[in-house]
Order: sequence, then structure tokens, then C-alpha cells
Amino acid sequence: MSSTRTLIRGGLVITAAEETHADVLIEDGRIAALAAHGSGAAEGWTADRTIDARGKYVLPGGVDAHTHMEMPFGGTFAADTFESGTRAAAWGGTTTIVDFAVQAPGQALREGLDAWYAKADGVCAIDYAFHMIMADVNESSLKEMDLLVQEGITSFKLFMAYPGVFYSDDGRILRAMQRASGNGGLIMMHAENGIAIDVLVEQALAAGRTDPRHHGEVRKVLLEAEATHRAIQLARVADAPLYVVHVSAEEAVAELAAARDKGLPVFGETCPQYLFLSTDNLAEPDFEGAKYVCSTPLRPKEHQAALWRGLRTDDLQVVSTDHCPFCFAGQKELGRSDFSKIPNGLPGVENRMDLLHQAVVEGKLTRRRWIDIACAAPARMFGLYPRKGTIAPGADADVVVYDPDAGQTLSAATHHMAVDYSAYEGKKITGQVETVLSRGELVIDRREFTGRAGHGRFTPRATCQYLT
Ligand code: URP
Ligand code: ZN
Ligand code: ZN
Ligand code: ZN
Repeated sequence: MSSTRTLIRGGLVITAAEETHADVLIEDGRIAALAAHGSGAAEGWTADRTIDARGKYVLPGGVDAHTHMEMPFGGTFAADTFESGTRAAAWGGTTTIVDFAVQAPGQALREGLDAWYAKADGVCAIDYAFHMIMADVNESSLKEMDLLVQEGITSFKLFMAYPGVFYSDDGRILRAMQRASGNGGLIMMHAENGIAIDVLVEQALAAGRTDPRHHGEVRKVLLEAEATHRAIQLARVADAPLYVVHVSAEEAVAELAAARDKGLPVFGETCPQYLFLSTDNLAEPDFEGAKYVCSTPLRPKEHQAALWRGLRTDDLQVVSTDHCPFCFAGQKELGRSDFSKIPNGLPGVENRMDLLHQAVVEGKLTRRRWIDIACAAPARMFGLYPRKGTIAPGADADVVVYDPDAGQTLSAATHHMAVDYSAYEGKKITGQVETVLSRGELVIDRREFTGRAGHGRFTPRATCQYLT
């Protein structure tokens, strides 16, 4: 914690609720007060450090509720460690990540979770929390869910995809949902019909269709929509809330919208890759398409309008990155002769705030909706609000000074993620993070990294705040 008093003066403070021309006083790592520009002096404000934010936005630090640092997948590990990944997140204006601890089949949740505590301990540049991936729903892991909720791990990801790896059948899913209904946990669903997909994978490979673009073709829109529908019905039977992760297809958004129109506690997340990239990228020649292999897969461009609309109408509440980077050299290449062996996942933890600001520039989102879907809603969804996700007295002083007029070009040559390509190589963005504070400490100071590994703390979470 910093005992320094910091004054951020002259900026436009943007939260999900309002935009105010205000100075912000930070003390002991928390937001102490806001006051109209220049009026702090009259209230006796003094500061050891003043940050000039004239002409800039003053934003809550981003909350990325879906990352996979060092995630094991397909015989390799995601390339960012908690150290490199949280540093890159800070560069991009994100000050909290919620990563996924993994229970392997046969393991206790405790064992998987402890391994994730150990990976992150003492190396993170920004604050972090965990969801728990449940790959083995059984009597004992169901009981463990209650203990995890008490410990601040209040959300559990289940997979309708990846048979033999993370997959749970409908009976296991129902039982986990029933348990969550009782203990306040939130079930996060990877909604794709993995059993059907595996049949199509086998048929594609047998027919010699081995290129990355076939990854998108076998993971059909209908199989995402069907799984989304099924997950919603199972959640209704269990009387449990549901959060569907990485929604990519228009038809899946329609399932969420229909459920929400009935007033059901069903929530949805999408990711920048589905908003900005498409099957055109998966079809890039010379195996370049492998850079864009993730699940759910990228969809034809026509799906993007429904995702943007869902974000505007609140049928989708959150944009997270699903940051799960694998290098092209040596990792994506594992699937050169078989798309099903390409490790699934894209880098993006550094790019989310900027890409969504670009959407503001292009008129797809308002500034407040940008901050809602990137900061406030993920904090509320996962029990971190108002400590995270807003700028208000008492909140953690996780603050970004953002220059809305700076121009930048996204590139692997300049990014800070430990991966040898950018999914957005060459994309021009208006806007750039200038300065970042985490609990009042400078992590990025006018585009210099001034943070340190180990500043970031594990942050236990309350239960979903959309339900209370
Ligand atoms: O392709 C992806 N999304 N990789 C990460 C694991 C997951 O399913 O979220
Ligand atoms: Zn002003
Ligand atoms: Zn998933
Ligand atoms: Zn993921």
C-alpha cells in the first residue's frame, strides 16, 4: 500500500454511471475524494505527487475476467507467465485479472487451486483472483465447491466441449449447477457440443481437411447455439444463475437474449477476437490461420453485428480477453498437419481496453458502456465491486490515465505479451494508456513500466452482485 497522496488533476473521469470533470485524490492506496477541477485546494487537499490529466480520460483500471496464464493445453503451456502476463495487462490499462485455476481429472479442486496460488504468488504486477475450472465433478469436488466459495473463489467453469479433457456430461453439469444454486457460486459455461464436434473433427481429418480453417468449420454455429440453449435449460432446472463465456455466434446471442427476456439470471461474455476478427483470419495461407485458432472459433464477419448489438442492449454484459497465448513458432506449429493439434487460444490481455476504445471512436459503443463492459460489469459479475471497476471514494485506487487522441499501431514488435505474434498486427487505434496506478502505486508512468513483480495481490471475491 502506498502512503503517498496522489492528485490526478484536470481529467474527465469516466465510470459506467457518469462522466465528470473532476480531480481525484488518492490516499493509502484508495480513492479518497473527487472534486470539481481546481476545487480541492479549498477543501485542504495536499498531495506529494500530481498527475496532469488535462485533455485525458481518468478511468477505473480494467478488469479482465477471463485469462489463462501458463495454462496447460494440448501438451504445451500458454506462453505468458503470471509475471509477464500481468505486466502486459498493466501496459494495456488492466489492473485486475481473474484467471482460471485448473482441476485436472482425478484431482481435488484444492490441489488444482493450490497450484495456481503458487504460480501467481509473488510475481504479479497487478491484482488477481481465480475462477475454478472443474474437469471432474464428483461427490467430493461438489462438496469442495462450498469451501471455495467461502475462500473467495466464487465461480466455476464447466465445459460442454473437449471430451476426455475438461468435458462434463449433462448430469455432472446439472449437479454442479444445483450445488452452485445452494452455495451462491456462479457457473461459467464453455457452451459447444464437444461430442458432436469430435465426430466432425474425425471426419474432416479422414477426408484430408487438415488446415486451420477447418477448425472453424467443424465447430459449427449450431453446435454453439445448441449447447447454449441446453446450458440455459439445465440452469433453469437447477434454479441457478449462468454465465456463458466467449460467446461468438449470433444464434448463441439469440439464446441468451431469449432467456433474459424471460427474466432469467443468464449472462454472457464475448471477447475482442469475435468482435474484430473472423474466419477470414483463420483462412490465411501458409498456416498463418493457426494464429487465430481458439474455441469457440472465430465466425464469419456477419456475426459481429449481433455481438455489438448484444453489448449495447445488455444481452451481453462483459468483454474479457480469454487471453491464452501460444507462440506461432513451436506451439501453434504442433498442428501443422492436423488442425486439431493446434493449441487453442489467442493473446489479447494488453489490447482489450484499446480495441474497445476504438469501438467508441467508431460509434459502436458509448464511453460509459466501454467502461461498463470492461471494468464495472466484470467487477460486479464476479464480486469485486465497488472495490474494483469504478472510481469512487473508498474504491481501490486502480486508475488509468488514457489519452483519447494518441495514435498507435498494434504490433508484436511493440507489445509486452510473451508471444511472437499479435492477433491484431498493424491495426491502427486511436487512444492509448498513458499512466496506470494499482492501489495508488504507479505501474505505468507516462508509458514507462514502473511496477514490480509481487505488487499484485490475490483478491478474494464475493458472489455475483447481479443477483443480490
Ligand atoms: O481457445 C481457447 N478459448 N482457449 C482457452 C480455453 C478456453 O476454452 O477458454
Ligand atoms: Zn475538464
Ligand atoms: Zn472455454
Ligand atoms: Zn478461456
